[in-house]
Amino acid sequence: MTSRRDFIKKSALASALVLGGNKLLRAEKESGERVQGDGKKPIVLSTWSHGIPANDAAWKILSANGKALDAVEQGVMVPESDPKNRSVGLGGLPDRDGHVTLDACIMDEKGNCGSVAFLEGILHPISVARKVMEKTPHVMLVGDGALQFALENGFTKNDYIITPEAKEAWEKWKKENNYNPKGDKANHDTIGLIAIDAAGDLSGACTTSGLAWKYHGRVGDSPIIGDGLFVDNEVGAACTTGKGEAVMKICGSIVVVEMMRNGKTPQQACEEMIKRMAKKQSDWKDFQVGVLALNSNGEHGAFALQKGFQYALAVDGENKLYDSDYLNK
Ligand code: GLY
Repeated sequence: MTSRRDFIKKSALASALVLGGNKLLRAEKESGERVQGDGKKPIVLSTWSHGIPANDAAWKILSANGKALDAVEQGVMVPESDPKNRSVGLGGLPDRDGHVTLDACIMDEKGNCGSVAFLEGILHPISVARKVMEKTPHVMLVGDGALQFALENGFTKNDYIITPEAKEAWEKWKKENNYNPKGDKANHDTIGLIAIDAAGDLSGACTTSGLAWKYHGRVGDSPIIGDGLFVDNEVGAACTTGKGEAVMKICGSIVVVEMMRNGKTPQQACEEMIKRMAKKQSDWKDFQVGVLALNSNGEHGAFALQKGFQYALAVDGENKLYDSDYLNK
């Protein structure tokens, strides 16, 4: 027998299906079912423990009624500035030839986006990516061209291109690994940060020094719109961290956003993308990927392949680190 509660839920879902994905989220909320998170705004969501100071910087902007775009840029600039961070910015671990090469992208509520990849010596690749978005007819610049553009736009090349600590780690790696890169469970803790502001607009930023000991010239998921980051203001935003190649094989972030468009909650969408990845990639137990999602109602989700993925959530003035749920149990 259909209970009154079931009937209300089914009616809400049926009318929402007619009206479209975004309304579906609202209808689910009204029915009291399938809502992940509390739907408050503003919200900042970011990957790993370096997300805590990044969220703090983003929150300062959002709590003063600032724009999500400014918040996400300022947020990820914090780990980019930290010379002790081994996976983001100039403190990152180098490729197998000893070069620290940086990848970043940014996307706003209008669907504008900018990206840089294989960039060396610039402290804030995310800000260069924003300039690409705002000042050029392009989405992505790479390598020497990205560097030339950065220098022409007031960025300065940093004196150090590898920290002494990263250089020492590289020397040790070379001895032990015979110049042979591996995509293992550690060493690729990108920061992805997605936010919704008080006006309800979404933006996202993603920045990394990429997989340590990678081939020179390798670019991962982080600067690729739709892989490391995707934002659609009508639906939601998603970002990824972990082994970029695994994310690129299934266009991780856009898949999550499209699942939310079709009515999944952020949590359901994150879980389904990770399960699809595991189904398609038989070696999935050997690497880590984590994903975060936020919908336009301010509900969030997080999921990973392996234990250990953490994310930082700032809401209501409180900024806390959480352990993500994961597939490999
Ligand atoms: N997710 C970062 C990378 O693979 O480069």
